[in-house]
Order: sequence, then C-alpha cells, then structure tokens
Amino acid sequence: MGKITIALAKGRLFQKSMDVFRSVGITAPDLTEDSRLLVIPGEIADFLIVKPVDVPVYVEHGVADMGICGKDTLLESGANILEMLDMGFGKCRLSVCGYEGTDPFFSGIRVATKYPNFARKLYRDRGCSAEIIKLSGSVELGPIIGLSDVIVDIVESGRTLVENGLSVLEDVAQVSSRLCVNRVSLKTKGDIIRPAIEGIRKNLEAGL
Ligand code: PRP
Repeated sequence: MGKITIALAKGRLFQKSMDVFRSVGITAPDLTEDSRLLVIPGEIADFLIVKPVDVPVYVEHGVADMGICGKDTLLESGANILEMLDMGFGKCRLSVCGYEGTDPFFSGIRVATKYPNFARKLYRDRGCSAEIIKLSGSVELGPIIGLSDVIVDIVESGRTLVENGLSVLEDVAQVSSRLCVNRVSLKTKGDIIRPAIEGIRKNLEAGL
C-alpha cells in the first residue's frame, strides 16, 4: 500500500485537524502541536506542517494529497481542489466591519483586508467601486488609523472588534473548516483517501 501526504495547518485548526485524522487511524508518533518539525513521517501518511493560508497551495500542487483549512482560505485562494467535507469546527464569519453607522458599500470605499481576492469580488458583485488594501494581520487598525473606511475580515468571538470600538456592518459569508483533496490524488490514491474520508464522514455524523 502506498502512502499519502497531509497538509496540517498550524494555529487554531491544528489540534482538531490532528484529532480528525487520528480518529481514522492516521497519525504519527512525532505529531504534536509544540513540535518544530515541518515534515512528520507516519505509517499511512506523512504530515506537512504549514501556514493555514498555504494549505490550498500544497493541495492544488499535489505535494499534499489532502488537508484541512477554513472556507475563508478557500474562497480567497480560488485553488482548483476538491472540497469534500464540512468539518463543522473553526466556525466564524467573513464580515464587513467598521465604525457603527458606516455604509459598508458606498462608492469609492477603502477596504483593508487579508482577503483581497474575496473582497474585490464582493465589491464587484455589489456593483460598488472599492480600493482594496491588502494587509497581513491586525486588520482592525485600518479604520482606526484612517487607512481604510472598513475591513473585510473573519469574526469569531467578536472580541477584537469590541475591544477596538468597531462593529460588524454586514456578514457576507459563513466560514467553517473544510477537508480538501487534490483532484488527481483522489484517483491515484483513492484506495487510501476514500476510506479515510468515509471514516471521517461517519465520525462526523455520529458526532464524534
Ligand atoms: C483574526 C481576525 C480577527 C480576529 C477575530 O485574526 O483577523 O482579527 O482573529 O477573532 P475574534 O472575533 O474572536 O476576536 P488572527 O487572530 O488570526 O490574527 P492576525 O490579525 O494576526 O491575522
């Protein structure tokens, strides 16, 4: 039997993603959150430890056969990969946020975001001209320092917004983590990937 490679996202999704694969017998002795190893070999799968935003990149290029990442990351990347399962964890929303009372869709609006492709499409679909400003983090600073009028960002607990005096102006997408698979791998390594997905699906249905 061959082996597969799994891209595991560091950070918020790491522990639950690791548990998902372990629940169907796919794990590795050195797979722990505090390890600094980037390639972790296992019996059925080798794990690549990657930045969440890069999961679709590894899967699309086939250097990872499958991975778990947020729907926000998939929407932004536009990667040509198969979204197989909604894992149900990592729930949050993509929202336009700013100071209370700001119109989230006025013509000429300046939008700071970690999701420039998603934001560009959103404003285009609404027929609203917008200047999209790409940031890599601490996006909430945008309206506070006058870099932008609003932000397009994920909101989970809402705490970051509250603590910075900002509000959700409009929710534009619901987000949760998704199991993704490389198109070719599903065919060439289906003997490993399909039973794994089926096992994960059953566990999800059983609420495990
Ligand atoms: C994300 C997001 C918000 C925050 C939302 O940032 O960009 O800032 O989490 O979470 P909350 O609603 O629970 O407060 P992240 O923590 O990934 O850090 P970053 O700003 O460095 O990207």
